[in-house]
Amino acid sequence: MGPLAATRLLRKAATHDGEFVDAPLPNIRPLWIGPLEINPPILQAPMAGFTNYAFRQIVREFGGAGLLATEMVCAKGFIWLDQHEAEHPDRLWGVVDEPRPLAVQMWDNDPATLARVGERLANEYKVSVVDINFGCPVRKVTKTGAGATLLEDPDRACRIVDTVARAVEAPVTVKMRRGLEDGSRAALTVGPKLVEAGAASLTIHPRSARQMYTGCADHSLTAELVELVDVPVVASGDVTSYARAQEILATTGCAAVMVGRAAQGNPWTIAEIVGDEARVPEREEVVAELVLFMRETVRELGAGRATGFLKKFYGWYLGRGRFPKPFKQELLQLGAIEDVEGRLFAAVPSARGAFDRLLAEQPADEGVLLDLPISAYGGG
Ligand SMILES: Cc1cc2nc3c(=O)[nH]c(=O)nc-3n(C[C@H](O)[C@H](O)[C@H](O)COP(=O)(O)O)c2cc1C
Repeated sequence: MGPLAATRLLRKAATHDGEFVDAPLPNIRPLWIGPLEINPPILQAPMAGFTNYAFRQIVREFGGAGLLATEMVCAKGFIWLDQHEAEHPDRLWGVVDEPRPLAVQMWDNDPATLARVGERLANEYKVSVVDINFGCPVRKVTKTGAGATLLEDPDRACRIVDTVARAVEAPVTVKMRRGLEDGSRAALTVGPKLVEAGAASLTIHPRSARQMYTGCADHSLTAELVELVDVPVVASGDVTSYARAQEILATTGCAAVMVGRAAQGNPWTIAEIVGDEARVPEREEVVAELVLFMRETVRELGAGRATGFLKKFYGWYLGRGRFPKPFKQELLQLGAIEDVEGRLFAAVPSARGAFDRLLAEQPADEGVLLDLPISAYGGG
């Protein structure tokens, strides 16, 4: 979908006489999670309700992210589906035949349930990394004793990691917040115990669960965690640009950074963080990419579910000063996805040609449907 070629670890740097040459990115070395090499050490954050297959495809085609993550999977729901073989509206599309490495994150509070699902994901579906969510701040998850609540229950958290790591052939990793309450340092006491229990890497989003997404991620905690454990630490939170990624890598000693919200409707930022020139996309490119994403999402979710799912993406693609606000509002008023598409092409007629060119570049891929219960509760 994107115009960029394969991932680079080189960045153009200006020489004294104004020439541009390839220069190695500072602070960039591959990340190793157990035997798995992740290169570049830029990870795409799991985001429930956002990191669908179409989104992951875009991230890949913009040359971004050494490791991509699906949306979070509800472990109990996974088992329920297995038992009932029922039609279920939530699903994970693409996992079976998607390029690796690919991480799937799951949530629950029961070690045996998570081990059972982790075992299926790794051993049967061959996902590269099984990640456990200890960060979700959303009440529907925390009230079950799962997500960020597990940071206050270290014994259970360790039993979870230990049980899953024994059951699963792939590396088992953990993604966590700093703790439940503002100022909490729970991640620093629990993190080393999780490593002892078998976590192959730790991702920290150093905000409290109470903070949700307000304030700033306090990466001084990331630096402290790096000192405490001998597995790679991944920094998540406010990685919004190449400069910010470099700064976090350099100041915390973390092994990799993870990009979340900055990539929403903005694959150009992912490309920049990975090492391409920062550039502002033309309007026709923005529209062409958005329409392609819309069509792929309809293929994945069906028109009914895609209609609601896509609404948040209109603002992200068309925002950032790319289109006037009233235009975004107008699109949100339109019900049918075809109407949105028609309006986009009417606003930027040259985008049709750009879209046709993107479409012609697409691999012939029918996708493989794998029904999994994606959590609608998102958050970490
Ligand atoms: C809408 C949304 C959904 C999210 N869903 C998850 C999730 O399912 N699992 C998880 O571990 N983190 C989840 N997160 C947290 C992100 O993975 C990431 O840690 C956080 O957004 C901070 O990074 P950022 O500042 O780059 O966005 C979610 C974040 C957002 C905004």
